[in-house]
Amino acid sequence: MSTFRELDGYDRVFNFGNCDSSVSLSEYQQTGGYEALRMAIGNPKQALEEICRAGLRGRGGAAFPAGLKLKMMQGNTEKQRYIVCNADEGEPGTFKDRFIMNHIPFQLLEGLTIAAILAGAENGFVYIRHEYPLAQENIKRSIAEAEAAGLLGDNILGSEFSLHLKIFSGAGSYLCGEETALLSSIEGKKGRPRVKPPFPIEKGLWGKPTLINNVETLANIPAIIAKGSAWYRTLGTEDSPGTKLISLSGDVKKRGLYEVPFGTTFREIIENFGGGMKEVFDLKAVNIGGASGVVVPPEELDCPMEYGKCAERGITIGSGAVYVMDEQRSILGNVHNRVHFFLHESCGKCTPCREGLRQVNRIIDRVTAGEASLKDIENLERFTRCMQEASFCGLGQAAGNSLLSSLKYFREEYENSCVDCVEKTSERGELC
Ligand SMILES: Cc1cc2nc3c(=O)[nH]c(=O)nc-3n(C[C@H](O)[C@H](O)[C@H](O)COP(=O)(O)O)c2cc1C
Ligand code: SF4
Repeated sequence: MSTFRELDGYDRVFNFGNCDSSVSLSEYQQTGGYEALRMAIGNPKQALEEICRAGLRGRGGAAFPAGLKLKMMQGNTEKQRYIVCNADEGEPGTFKDRFIMNHIPFQLLEGLTIAAILAGAENGFVYIRHEYPLAQENIKRSIAEAEAAGLLGDNILGSEFSLHLKIFSGAGSYLCGEETALLSSIEGKKGRPRVKPPFPIEKGLWGKPTLINNVETLANIPAIIAKGSAWYRTLGTEDSPGTKLISLSGDVKKRGLYEVPFGTTFREIIENFGGGMKEVFDLKAVNIGGASGVVVPPEELDCPMEYGKCAERGITIGSGAVYVMDEQRSILGNVHNRVHFFLHESCGKCTPCREGLRQVNRIIDRVTAGEASLKDIENLERFTRCMQEASFCGLGQAAGNSLLSSLKYFREEYENSCVDCVEKTSERGELC
């Protein structure tokens, strides 16, 4: 069953307007912007219920229910609380949060303000990676404009609620996108992950309860409150309501950012949104979920993009990066690249990730140089599984996803590069 359809203005969560510029505060308000904030201030309890009923899940990768996290914040009796918007966007191939910050900053700020009110936070940070100077500039300017219009700062819209926001610039570490490493980095400590529990909602910034959400998660909130959870649930599926921003890249005709209803298959994303393959070459593989995601063959692309079905097939939606590879691409080259990336980004705190990545990288180097044996491939799989199961944080746990999935579906590409295979090939004149 095809779930593809073009989204029109009424069933869209995001309206990027003219993509060459940033939607101004007055333009945003003329199209209903800040109505949701007024509604949330008037009835915070109902606003929270709408978010819960909408079934909004975190878009930063872990897909944790956003309403539940807000409710857990409310359960804490500590007076001083913080809100942090995670705009580190370090997952390779992902550019949705940058697009939101560059083009619809007030939709993000409105969602962030509503979440802060519901979480009882009066101070917060937008943690933006330093590679996004335009986004930092745009959000800084937008915060000042919102403050001047009484939409941020003390007594928002004349109410009892206040929110003071600052921008914090990341310094180029992928790991600092992980929520506890991010908090340490704001506190001026080494950007390394902390033990969980306690979770940030219990003990976050400077030991105080802290709500951390991704940019896209927060930017969903105004539409949910203004149009209602019932409207939101008309988009997507029962399992995964709403839409997902997909960063589509690689060998498709129309690379770019698309708002895609959950339930759309990955094949439809490539064919209908991306316009199909760019050149005459056939589709070989698709990397779903960024560097920490999986590499799957064309047969897997009829899986609907929804959390439940994807989990059954071992597919990680993650941040929503979809990278399409045609038959000319090397799977080994792609995976080699990712292993190098994680080796560079590992903080070295725990042995399985630090040593595992070193060993895995060493073997992959040998495979790509045509010097590995079939025994090396076995070890590659063994070390990667060990890293996945024993690493301290999500970086080490997910670093082997592309490797293990590519070994599952494209094992012959690894084995055919091995010396034992090449020797047998020359003896028999065929591949082993
Ligand atoms: C290594 C690593 C990097 C991460 N990078 C990001 C990131 O760049 N942006 C993001 O929003 N979440 C990132 N996350 C997920 C966050 O830890 C956290 O789950 C998220 O900010 C929660 O927000 P959400 O519930 O709205 O998704 C990362 C997680 C890990 C393990
Ligand atoms: S898994 Fe990797 S990144 Fe995470 S704590 Fe261990 S060494 Fe550091």
